[in-house]
Amino acid sequence: MESVKVYAPASVANVGCGYDTMGFAIDSVGEELILSKRTDSLLMIKETVGAALSSDPEQNVATIAIKALLNALNSDQGFDVSIIKHFKPGSGLGSSASSAAGAVFAANELLGTPFSKTELLPFALEGEAFASGCYHADNVAPSLLGGFQVIRGYDPLDFFEVKVSSDLKVLIVFPDVQVKTIESKGLLPKEVSILTARNQWANTAALVQALNTNDMALLKRAIEDHIAEPVRKSFIPLYSDVKSIAEKSGSVGFNISGSGPSMFSFFSDDSGPKKMACEVKSLYENAGFHFKIYTSKIDTKGCKVIV
Ligand code: HSE
Repeated sequence: MESVKVYAPASVANVGCGYDTMGFAIDSVGEELILSKRTDSLLMIKETVGAALSSDPEQNVATIAIKALLNALNSDQGFDVSIIKHFKPGSGLGSSASSAAGAVFAANELLGTPFSKTELLPFALEGEAFASGCYHADNVAPSLLGGFQVIRGYDPLDFFEVKVSSDLKVLIVFPDVQVKTIESKGLLPKEVSILTARNQWANTAALVQALNTNDMALLKRAIEDHIAEPVRKSFIPLYSDVKSIAEKSGSVGFNISGSGPSMFSFFSDDSGPKKMACEVKSLYENAGFHFKIYTSKIDTKGCKVIV
């Protein structure tokens, strides 16, 4: 194979209480990457569509991740890389993660799959770490592997999938302002009290149990964040109003997606997402904000070959 086109889904990280430790892929939006083998050893960003991304291979997460993979193989294969974004960087939907995950997945395909999908995660993580200034796999793991992924540890990387009911719906609201993860991380408290930590880790345990048992009441109680939401909500237009619309629409868990500004809301029925989408639309239209709404389910496939 000389060329491949792949799809990498967007993702929701943190899921409220699980800062840097959990995330899930969504099936409504993502990005495409086209990789072609070169006859030399260069890594080139050939084209980027839908976002102004760096064309410097030393500054682009896709080529940085590919380089990590090539180093592990001791390979000097060169690639041309084209990236077609269907959602904006800085939207809180794991844009750098989908580029990094898609890039290593595509390169691995062209190299004859020397690595399993799971084994590709550390390489994708190198790209993500460049973008956000630290190692966090809560976007890159779900984007690469699909599903709801929990990262138990980073040194060494230790992660597992939580099986989620296919009936769970997710509404994503993206108010069109940009939040850079690297900056948003810097605003978080460096230390938390033992009481805050206790509440937070109780919620993460409850969240996993709620998903395992499909307990929607517990899910709703568990998606509560004492660490990032209090700081980050102030950067999100009309956050409290959107949260209260979610509540009135029957949400079973609402919070910030990643570092924002997108927000996610879980629903167990079909009417809730429609009601919430309709009310958020009038809220933002009346206030003059640009926004996008994605009606999703949890994507279970992660990166896949499309051509
Ligand atoms: N866990 C990361 C953060 C996700 O909250 O900073 C960034 O999208």
